[in-house]
Amino acid sequence: MAVLGVLSVTLEVPDIEPGIRFYTDAGLLAEVDGSVARLRCDGQDRPSITLLGGHRRKRLHHVTLRAEALDAIAAQVPGHGGQVVPAPEGFSGEGLNGGLSGGLSGGLWVRDPHGMLFHLIERAPDPELAPAAAAFAINEPGRVVRTRRSAILPGKAYPPARPLRLGHVLLFSPDVPKSVEFVTGALGMGLADRSQDIIAFTCARKDSDHHVIAFAKSPGIGFHHASFQVADPDEVGRGGRALLRKAGRGDWGFGRHTIGSNFFHYIQDPWGSWFEYYSDIDYIDDYALWTPTNYDLEDSLASWGPDVPQDFVHNYEVAEQDAFAGA
Ligand SMILES: [Fe+2]
Repeated sequence: MAVLGVLSVTLEVPDIEPGIRFYTDAGLLAEVDGSVARLRCDGQDRPSITLLGGHRRKRLHHVTLRAEALDAIAAQVPGHGGQVVPAPEGFSGEGLNGGLSGGLSGGLWVRDPHGMLFHLIERAPDPELAPAAAAFAINEPGRVVRTRRSAILPGKAYPPARPLRLGHVLLFSPDVPKSVEFVTGALGMGLADRSQDIIAFTCARKDSDHHVIAFAKSPGIGFHHASFQVADPDEVGRGGRALLRKAGRGDWGFGRHTIGSNFFHYIQDPWGSWFEYYSDIDYIDDYALWTPTNYDLEDSLASWGPDVPQDFVHNYEVAEQDAFAGA
């Protein structure tokens, strides 16, 4: 029994319009159905982000995961502090577009010990991504691999960034070790790496990016970012700059993470959470052969990059709770 990857994130938002603009500027394709917007990667048949409009504020609704052996997972959930629950209203139907689920209906719905909602479905894997026409090749000391061609073309030669797939999500958790215990014990994931009890990265146990679901410590649950793979590090940089100019809020990048090793550029979405372009993440083909590391906090964010924005790990989904508590 195990989770195999992440398929999509569903968010409640006040108004879908700014979200449609932001995510289409980021390179996703929008399909709008009343107050619901589904945003998918070009070449994929399912949404990676679903926005449910008409809510008071932005809030994580649920995360959809590809999994196998759902019955075995369902049996494990209560013993790890979670709960198997019915599909939320609107998500159980197979009607027009599968109800609100956008074709990702059926499966198993579970709440983790903090009330975070996960939707697990059995589904064929996405087709293998085609390699880029020209390999990303770096001339190193003593290892020259690119000759008689320029690595970089004039700017006009490049189309807008094209997110290839949703690779991972980072979620807020009030108790990171407890969240890790749930997804490893009940959902069959593996702890890839962590930094103390502040941030932790979990992966599928076979053929997985270094992280599929990560957790960062916060007063409450919430959505921090969704991360999309692009062709190479240059597209991370180009895409990040272009989206920042259009979005007009904060950004963090271009940089390279220590944990997972990926190049990154984060752009702030209309509600204060983040969209990440990434390239060259570590890969764990067999979790049995991987040893997790507990990193110092100074390594928890980046190996190098610009200063981290002040609100980078602020959970806007609990802002009102903080105000209520007088924090
Ligand atoms: Fe990320």
